[in-house]
Amino acid sequence: MQGTSARPRAGERTLVHIDADVVRRERPAPERVEPVVEIENVTVRYGGKPAVRNVTFDIGRNLITALIGPSGCGKSTLLRCLNRMNDLIPGATVAGKIRYHGQDIYDPNVDPVELRKLIGMVFQKPNPFPKSIYDNVAYGPRVTGMKGNLDEIVERALRRAALWDEVKDRLKDNAYGLSGGQQQRLCIARCLAVEPEVILMDEPCSALDPISTARIEDLMVELKERYSIVIVTHNMQQAARVSDMTAFLTVESDDKGERAGELIEYGPTERIFTNPADPRTEAYVTGKMG
Ligand SMILES: Nc1ncnc2c1ncn2[C@@H]1O[C@H](COP(=O)(O)OP(=O)(O)OP(=O)(O)O)[C@@H](O)[C@H]1O
Ligand SMILES: [Mg+2]
Repeated sequence: MQGTSARPRAGERTLVHIDADVVRRERPAPERVEPVVEIENVTVRYGGKPAVRNVTFDIGRNLITALIGPSGCGKSTLLRCLNRMNDLIPGATVAGKIRYHGQDIYDPNVDPVELRKLIGMVFQKPNPFPKSIYDNVAYGPRVTGMKGNLDEIVERALRRAALWDEVKDRLKDNAYGLSGGQQQRLCIARCLAVEPEVILMDEPCSALDPISTARIEDLMVELKERYSIVIVTHNMQQAARVSDMTAFLTVESDDKGERAGELIEYGPTERIFTNPADPRTEAYVTGKMG
């Protein structure tokens, strides 16, 4: 693993767990952030009670954006809003604007099923269907009536998810026979098969061993050539290793004392981890909070 040792230097702020030189070398600040999804003043409530409040930032095209912050600050809630998965939660409401290519995704004309093809999601726990490896990947293309040769679509998705070589001789086997790390790459392949543009990942490695985690991290870095990725992670090294931009959220009280997650800081990962503007960000990334 890289970037895990701290080497403080005189006159330079170096954070406890992350080697600032490594972060800087591996993750230089992107030259520009071209928004693919714009989040503007978003407040999400469950049963009228806010879970995240007034969040504004952009998700950059072909970048990896990390959402970090303590448990309960609303990372999953915010992530689910980006492809309208919150529609499926009774009592969840979203105020503010989320635009995808400039279009309001909560506009009544937007079909959430179509949206979720373009903005796909990978969950914390690998969740393959109880079907063959092939049928898992073919599922999306089949139900959406995608054009093209299905065998080729399945192979392409499995290759992009760095799983093809391991499964090409057992495509008809049940997906439950795969290891956890392979199942997660299968879920990534299933998501890629319908040709999304944005991939949302909620703690995709938290159920995996370090080797599978490293494979998924490498895969993410490869995938960002084609896709824009948003990842929720509790692993600060992971955020520092893979992401280009980082958004830090934490729970704060408003002037009425109502507690909800707020965005404290958003910026290039390199800066968030080596020179954060807000003391709460620094406390979190150095492990003094959360
Ligand atoms: N389905 C739900 N119904 C009601 N409240 C919810 C629901 N899901 C989340 N919440 C509340 O919204 C707030 C944010 O939760 P969320 O799961 O988004 O946090 P998180 O940052 O992803 O936390 P963790 O790091 O533990 O996964 C919490 O107070 C949580 O209790
Ligand atoms: Mg969560």
